[in-house]
Amino acid sequence: MKQEPCLTRMLGSFAPPARVARVAPVTSSPFGNVHHRELSLISLNILLVEDDPDVRAALRDALGDAKHAVDAVGDGAVALERLGTQVFDLIVTDLRLPKVDGLTVFRRAREIAPSTDVILMTSFGAVADAVAALKEGAYDYLTKPFEVEELIARVRAIADRRALTRELQEARAQLAGAVDGAIVGAAPAMVRLLERLGTVADSDASVLVTGETGTGKELVARRIHAKSPRHAAPFVAINCAAFPDTLLEAELFGYERGAFTGAARRRDGRFKAADKGTLLLDEIAEMSLPAQVKLLRVLQEGIVEPLGTNTGVKVDVRVISATHRDLKRRIAEGLFREDLYYRLNVVGLHIPPLRERPGDLPLLLHHFLRHYQRPGEPLPEVSVAAWQALAAYPFLGNVRELGHAIQHAVVLARGKTIELAHLPDDIARAVAAPTLTDTPLRPLHNAVKEAERAHILKALAIAQGKRTRAAEILGISRKNLWEKLRAHDLSDSDVDE
Ligand SMILES: Nc1ncnc2c1ncn2[C@@H]1O[C@H](COP(=O)(O)OP(=O)(O)OP(=O)(O)O)[C@@H](O)[C@H]1O
Ligand SMILES: [Mg+2]
Repeated sequence: MKQEPCLTRMLGSFAPPARVARVAPVTSSPFGNVHHRELSLISLNILLVEDDPDVRAALRDALGDAKHAVDAVGDGAVALERLGTQVFDLIVTDLRLPKVDGLTVFRRAREIAPSTDVILMTSFGAVADAVAALKEGAYDYLTKPFEVEELIARVRAIADRRALTRELQEARAQLAGAVDGAIVGAAPAMVRLLERLGTVADSDASVLVTGETGTGKELVARRIHAKSPRHAAPFVAINCAAFPDTLLEAELFGYERGAFTGAARRRDGRFKAADKGTLLLDEIAEMSLPAQVKLLRVLQEGIVEPLGTNTGVKVDVRVISATHRDLKRRIAEGLFREDLYYRLNVVGLHIPPLRERPGDLPLLLHHFLRHYQRPGEPLPEVSVAAWQALAAYPFLGNVRELGHAIQHAVVLARGKTIELAHLPDDIARAVAAPTLTDTPLRPLHNAVKEAERAHILKALAIAQGKRTRAAEILGISRKNLWEKLRAHDLSDSDVDE
């Protein structure tokens, strides 16, 4: 193992981040196989500009046979008209044309539709013009006379490239989706939470999600909805702290016209909006006692009574509530109703703060690097100093604060390694300057052994328990890893191979 023991000691159980950043994209790239797959054939929309009627007809037929849509015109002036009203994937134009020449058509096309490809056809004498156009961005040129197959082959290459671009865009969009909804975490408490989340999603049980600010309470609520049979119906969230008393009731239950001053029109409430779906009552601890009474009744009866009416509307809503406060304490203080608490907390999910699961830090770091990395560029690496600062910083704002810090750093690092200076100031200052007397010295072999154990655990976490992958990350054979697991008494640990 290349890692220096002193580094590991300073970092506690953390692995150096550069390794995380370097190895991960190999498996996480969704683009890996694109080139090996047969690309779907796409049909191009082609503008053909050729003044010789025989040549024009021959080319139009050949391109048509190759399943492209061809608009064939005889001079540059008509071509310019077409460009003003239609979008083409490709223009195939002769250079020498009556009235307006091919070079003008090409340049105009560059202006109004820069993504349109252009192939020029030229006689031997005008090759210089064609070469000039290539420099300005034309795709290719053909010197007359040429075989029709030569043109078809170039058009095919353009169609392939366009299909590939489209696939890459789709893959990127898919990945973005996955990244957005993912709950990252391998700490035992997070693994248990995710398991419980999976079980509870199937039911209609009320869930109370607790955890400090930025720990992912809303993320968890959205995931429960997404995994539940209600996923096709709306997920509606309301922040109970954002509305004064009566307005909160109006928001939740809806109102009739004239129910209160300012109620000019009747309006459905959030309960109605979430019918058949899920309602997140965020910051539930801030709800007033009178509103709590009404909420309790709705939960008991499944019937909502909009303000200003006395007729109930039946709703079918799964309720998830969230708070960063200690509701038990609010109950003791007389600020929260105990009966409501038990209604809301049929299943409780607690998300531990980030500082209690330091092992998740490298995973989240990688997650956010991937999320914020600049398109088309490799995942940025993280310098050891920057990593030390991240590891030392308490992150009272939890995962949200970490996400913001990484976004900040990725922007400042401009695709290069993330250094200490790229982190927000508070975090950059968190690097503990170790002094010689800071850490009591232990025998070297103990320190190395501990470092090795921590390093292996980290690799297993990053590899999500897959031993083959963990061995790859560590740069050792699978057999060697197996021996080390035994030596460290880890062979029964949470590994799935
Ligand atoms: N485990 C996680 N994996 C990936 N992203 C996470 C995780 N936890 C939180 N996040 C991200 O951190 C940000 C904050 O999460 P969220 O809004 O769910 O927190 P919260 O607990 O509701 O915070 P608050 O109490 O301040 O409302 C979001 O961008 C979310 O996607
Ligand atoms: Mg929230």
